[in-house]
Amino acid sequence: MKILLVGGGGREHAVAAAIKRSPQKPLLYTVMSKKNPGIAALSEEVLISDEKDAFTIASFAKEKGIDMAFIGPEAPLSAGVSDALWAAGVPAVGPKMNCAKIETDKAWARKFIEKHGIEGNPKYGVFTDYEPAAAFIDQLSDVAVKPAGLTGGKGVKVMGDQLPDIAAAKEYTKEVLKGDSVVIEERFVGEEFTLQAFVDGKHLAFCPTAQDHKRAYEGDVGPNTGGMGAYTNAGALLPFITPEEYEKAKQIMQATVAAFPNETGDEFKGILYGQFILTQNGPKLIEYNARFGDPEAMNVLSLLESDMAAVMKAVVTGTLDQMTVEFSKKATVCKYAVPAGYPDNPEKDAEITVLGGAGNVLKGPEADLIVYYSAVYEKDGKIYTTSSRSVGVVGLAATIEKAETISQDALDKTIKGSLFFRRDIGTPALVQKRIDHMNKLRGQK
Ligand code: GLY
Repeated sequence: MKILLVGGGGREHAVAAAIKRSPQKPLLYTVMSKKNPGIAALSEEVLISDEKDAFTIASFAKEKGIDMAFIGPEAPLSAGVSDALWAAGVPAVGPKMNCAKIETDKAWARKFIEKHGIEGNPKYGVFTDYEPAAAFIDQLSDVAVKPAGLTGGKGVKVMGDQLPDIAAAKEYTKEVLKGDSVVIEERFVGEEFTLQAFVDGKHLAFCPTAQDHKRAYEGDVGPNTGGMGAYTNAGALLPFITPEEYEKAKQIMQATVAAFPNETGDEFKGILYGQFILTQNGPKLIEYNARFGDPEAMNVLSLLESDMAAVMKAVVTGTLDQMTVEFSKKATVCKYAVPAGYPDNPEKDAEITVLGGAGNVLKGPEADLIVYYSAVYEKDGKIYTTSSRSVGVVGLAATIEKAETISQDALDKTIKGSLFFRRDIGTPALVQKRIDHMNKLRGQK
């Protein structure tokens, strides 16, 4: 079996490792814009190419006789790489453009959810002109401001966070409107969590819930990033989520998947990523992504016990209901080591060392530590930073606390270079803060 993987980040290194753990021993072919040394080590052949070049990717897949593909990042989804692969006779895990709009067009996504009577939407408005947008901000008085299009996870700004007051929200709205339409939404208060699922068009196989940390610095301060690290609990539920709240989030995602064919004429086949916020009134939808999260993929795919190639086959053939996708009941903590100055002024081309390399990467849930390469490159046997997140370090253990110690220890002792990371992710103090916050909100109801 030959599998093609598109993308070259930490998320894709985790996907590549999961594919290579398959007992069917698939051969892996990869397309990425820069050569990730971890993924390259698992590949038969690497094509260095623009990941949005649908024609080149589909031609490569045909030429190599690829049986199935997995598309990691959002950019190739938005450029029609899945459409081109299916048209070339290569089934792909990753939705076609018209379904990827759930991520690539936030205005479309809100209207789609509303139109199909799916729960979880905030009060919202979509605007192309400043005056009505400003009036709506006054009306809601506490808002999130989102560019409608893709921003690499860094475009959303929220009052009480990056936007100190209504004037700042209006100022940012003006800035967004220079290049895009703007979505203004009621701000929810609560704890965020990520629920990801393999989707075959009709059925969903859910991964354990995860919590990402967007802000660059400890204590959840500093600029927004793609995500500095995430944790999962032993089992599906984070410690601040009740089984009822978890069921509600699952129902929202199920209803969303069921609505695609009516709206787009196509089924959603790929990974659906629900970014939820747990409020005192239950889970609400912050946004959807049409792919795995990065870093969350490193958490959940490290735990995947099922055969990834079989899961992919079930996704593309619409037969996920005929298998159980199993995850180890361990907790995970993933922390990213990122270049000094990231995200605003990252130190590029700095040499780093990862002692032991990514040696455990094929062990999966049997390992207690897995290191995934992300935005780094190899030259003359040495590893160098680029402008984005460098190395994802995942601890796996019976508890979040132990998994955190394993990840942090590895960062302190084995990853060297001009890098920084967040010590607080997954620590008992931070996890307790999340639990206390939710208990307080529930108590105020
Ligand atoms: N970790 C957030 C994302 O992948 O969008």
